[in-house]
Amino acid sequence: MKKMKIISTVLIAAFVFILSACGTSKTTGGSSDDKTLKVVTDAAYAPFEYLDKGKVVGFDVDFMNAVAKEAGLKIKIENVGWDPLFVELDKKTADIGMSAITINDERKQSYDFTRPYFLSTNKILVPKDSDIKSGADLKNNKTIAVQNATTGQEAVEGLLGKNNEKIKKFENNNLAIQEMKSGGADAVVADNTVIEQYVLNNPKDNFVVIEDSTAFAQEFYGLMLPKGSKLKADLDKAINTLMENGEYAKIYKKWFKVDPDLSKLPKE
Ligand code: ARG
Repeated sequence: MKKMKIISTVLIAAFVFILSACGTSKTTGGSSDDKTLKVVTDAAYAPFEYLDKGKVVGFDVDFMNAVAKEAGLKIKIENVGWDPLFVELDKKTADIGMSAITINDERKQSYDFTRPYFLSTNKILVPKDSDIKSGADLKNNKTIAVQNATTGQEAVEGLLGKNNEKIKKFENNNLAIQEMKSGGADAVVADNTVIEQYVLNNPKDNFVVIEDSTAFAQEFYGLMLPKGSKLKADLDKAINTLMENGEYAKIYKKWFKVDPDLSKLPKE
C-alpha cells in the first residue's frame, strides 16, 4: 500500500512537471511571451518618428504598434537617438530598431532585418534660389549637411569622396536642416519623404527638393534586429498579414494621404 502511494505520488509529480514544462516551452516560443520588447528609435525624422508633446509619433510608430499587436508582442518605444540605436542592438540591450532604417549590405553583416516595408531614396534639399540642380552639382565646392552614419552621408561620400571636409555630419537630421537654414550649408541630403514633408510644412523657409535618380539609388526600410534574433519570423509574418489585410494601407494612407504601391516592395 505504502509502495502504491509513493508510486502514485511520483507519477503525479512527473505529470505536473510535464505539464509545467509544456507551459514554459509555449511562453518561450515568442508570441505569448510576456516580456516587453524594447524598441529603440531616433525621433527626429518626421513623418516616420518624431516628438509631439514629448510623445514619439509617426508612420513607423503606428506601423510598429500594428505589427506588435498582430504578432502578440508587447513593446515599449524609447527615443535613444540614431548612433545609440545601433550600439543598443550591438549589445542586445534593445530588441528592435525602428527608425526609417535602410536595409543595406553593410548593415546586414551586423544586424538582421525584417522584410522591407517602405520604399525610399535620398534627395537634395536646397534653398529655392540655389544653383544646385543635380547630384553632380554638389561637387562644385558645395557644403553639404547630412545626418551622421546614414545612407545620405554614404551617398554624398560617393559623390565627393570619403572624409571630404565639405560634408558636415550631424547627430540628427533636424540639426542638418538647421545648419542650412542658418547659412552653414548649401544643401542637405536625406530621405525623400522626410525632406518633402519638411518643405510642405515650412513654406516660409523657401526650400525645394531636387531629385536625381542617377545619383541616388532606391532604398527600402526594414525593422532592424540584433543578429540571430528569434523575432524575425514572427515580425515578418505579422507584416505580411498587415499588407494583405489592408491594415498597412490604412496606416500608410493616414500619413501619406495616398494608397501604398505594394508591388514596389520586394518580399525579402
Ligand atoms: N534611411 C536612412 C538610413 O537608414 C536614414 C534614416 C534616419 N532615420 C532616423 N530616424 N534618423 O541611413
